[in-house]
Amino acid sequence: MTATSTAVTGIGSLVTNDPSFSGADNPLGLVRDAAVVVEGDRVVWTGPSSKAPPTDNRVDAGGRALLPGFVDSHSHLIFAGDRGAEFAARMSGRPYTAGGIRTTVAATRAASDAELGAALDRFLAEALRQGTTTVETKSGYGLTVHDEARALRIAAERTPETTYLGAHVVAPEYADDPAGYVDLVTGPMLDACAPHARWVDVFCEEGAFDGDQARAILTAGAARGLVPRVHANQLTAGPGVQLAVELGAASADHCTHLTGADIDALAGSATVATLLPGAEFSTRAVYPDARRLLDAGATVALSTDCNPGSSFTSSMAFCVAVAVRDMGMTPDEAVRAATYGGARALRRTDIGTVAPGARADLHLLDAPGHVHLAYRPGVPLTAAVWQAGELRW
Ligand code: NIG
Ligand code: FE
Repeated sequence: MTATSTAVTGIGSLVTNDPSFSGADNPLGLVRDAAVVVEGDRVVWTGPSSKAPPTDNRVDAGGRALLPGFVDSHSHLIFAGDRGAEFAARMSGRPYTAGGIRTTVAATRAASDAELGAALDRFLAEALRQGTTTVETKSGYGLTVHDEARALRIAAERTPETTYLGAHVVAPEYADDPAGYVDLVTGPMLDACAPHARWVDVFCEEGAFDGDQARAILTAGAARGLVPRVHANQLTAGPGVQLAVELGAASADHCTHLTGADIDALAGSATVATLLPGAEFSTRAVYPDARRLLDAGATVALSTDCNPGSSFTSSMAFCVAVAVRDMGMTPDEAVRAATYGGARALRRTDIGTVAPGARADLHLLDAPGHVHLAYRPGVPLTAAVWQAGELRW
C-alpha cells in the first residue's frame, strides 16, 4: 500500500534550493505558480501547479510563498534559569564575557530531568511555530559527567542533532586546574556523553579554551566517532577557525572576528561558516562580515545560537532579517543560508531543500515571497509548517 499523497498547489513562489531549478540568476531555485507533492514523509514531486499529478488530497496555498523548513544548526537549549538581568546590564554598558555561562550552569544543575525536558519541548515548539523543522542543540550547562550526559540524553530523545559541549567553559570546581578539566572532558565525561551525541564542540576563546586544549578535546571526540564543530572567533580573532578547517569540522560557528587567512581557509574547505547574528544583536557587538565570506566562496549558514546568555531568540526569520540589514547578505543569500546552509552545516542532504526525495519539511508564509522575511521584520509570517510530511502548525 502506498502512503497518502497530498499536493500543495497554488504556491505563488516556491524556494526549492534544488539544482535542477537553480542557476546563476536563480540561486534559490525559485519556481512561480508552483506545486509540491508529498507522499508519507517525503517530497515526491515539485513543479508548475498546472502540471501537478493527481493526489489523494489537495491544499491550496492561495498564492503564498513556500520554502524549506528552517534548519537551526546551532542552539543551546538544555538549560534552566534566566539571565534577563544580565542582558539589561549589558544594554546599559556592561560587556559580554564567557563568565555568565556559570550562572546558567548553577541553575541547570539544580533542575530536574523533567524540568529540562519540558523546557526543551517548549523551545522546540516555539521554533516550530516559526518555521524551524530541524534543531541542533548542545550540552554545556552541566559541566559534570552526570549533568552533561543527562543533558545529551534528554536532547537525544527529541532531536538526532545533539552536540557534546562539555568544553563550554572550565567547570567552577576546576577553576584552579583547567588541565584537569580537559582530562575530564576528554576522558570520563566523553565516555558518558558519546552515546548520546552526534557532534563534539568546544568554545575556543579567551576565557574558555585555547587552541591546544580545543585540539585535544576535538581530537578525542573524533576518536569516539563524534564529528567536530567549533565555537570559533566569536569575541577575538583566535585560532578556532584554523583549527576547525584543519580538523575537517562540519562548521566553524560565530566567525565574527576573522583574518584574511581565516576567510581563505574557510573558502578553501568543506567547513561551513555558521553566522549567529542573534549573538551580536544581544551583546551589542559588531556583526560578522557575511559579504566577505560569500565573495570568497565560503558556504554560509545562519542560525539562532538560542541560549539564555548571548542570544535568547529562537527566530530564524529574525536572523535572516538582521543578516540582510546588517551583514551584507541579499534576501536570497540569507534564506538559502537559513535552510540549505544549515543543512550543509549538519552534513544533511535530506533537509534544507524542497525536492523529490527530501524530507517533507515545508514552511508556508503569509506573504507572496521569501523576501518578506527580511522586509517585514518581527512579523509572525508563518502560516503553516509540515514536518516530515505531517502538518504540525
Ligand atoms: O554561543 N559562545 C559560547 N556560548 C554561547 C553563549 C552561552 C552563554 O552566554 O550562556 C554562545 O554565544
Ligand atoms: Fe553557541
